[in-house]
Amino acid sequence: MSERDPMVDEFDTVAAWTADAVAVLGPDHALPAACRGSGSPGALDWLAEAMGVSAGTHLLDSGAGVGGPAAYLARTRGARPVLAEPMVGACRAARRLFGSPVVAADGARLPFGAGTFDSAWSLGVLCTLEDKRSYLRELARVVRDGGAVGLLVYTRTVEELPDQPEGNWFPSRAELVADLEACALSVLDEVPLADVPGTPEDWQRAADAVEAEVERVHGEDPRWARAAEQEETIGSLIEDGLVVGVLVGCRREARAGATATD
Ligand SMILES: C[S@@+](CC[C@H](N)C(=O)[O-])C[C@H]1O[C@@H](n2cnc3c(N)ncnc32)[C@H](O)[C@@H]1O
Repeated sequence: MSERDPMVDEFDTVAAWTADAVAVLGPDHALPAACRGSGSPGALDWLAEAMGVSAGTHLLDSGAGVGGPAAYLARTRGARPVLAEPMVGACRAARRLFGSPVVAADGARLPFGAGTFDSAWSLGVLCTLEDKRSYLRELARVVRDGGAVGLLVYTRTVEELPDQPEGNWFPSRAELVADLEACALSVLDEVPLADVPGTPEDWQRAADAVEAEVERVHGEDPRWARAAEQEETIGSLIEDGLVVGVLVGCRREARAGATATD
């Protein structure tokens, strides 16, 4: 990835700026600002419920970004999340905001043994990857047999998008299902993101305040402009219904020769 890569602008540079803005505005802004691909608490609650996350669940968040969703799970359910995220600026932000255990790692080459985690989730990551199966296989590898795997995936509803944002490869729903099947992940339940409760007003207000603070400080920086443009393009595709978010609860299939633990 080069320094001019829009993904670096969006997921590394802006991540670090976000932590700075939270330091100015106060810790009550951390969670809303740090859920960068997942949107609402309603979506996180639906997925956590579908996955059966409870107190003590040892869960991997692969592509964790600034760590908001994992911190939300720890706070609301007493789960024990571990974060993996390739962008060092985002890793540092997650540690700074939530003190989360985090490793800087590509989701397709995770530094964990097979079956390390009870479960894993991946929020808004798949559409940033051209090679989805290497990432999904790795996600399945590190989860124990029968463990839950949750995904938030932005899928395209048309064959070709009119405006293809750089660094994004939105799968069709059929492609997503084929990828999951090929990677030992059985779909148990799914729901369109639009069908779960939306973002509460106070949550949205806090997220907006952080964005405004980042813009106030960095609005003249070309990296901010590129990241904002990227977000706007994706926002329009979602608004036009050409890209649709879907929450998917899966089970990690038993490995050959193994007995599922539940
Ligand atoms: C839209 S953000 C979502 C962040 C976080 N999951 C959330 O919901 O707030 C997508 C994340 O995927 C990460 N990502 C990109 N390529 C990745 C890879 N190969 N392995 C793991 N994560 C990756 C990005 O760095 C970014 O943090």
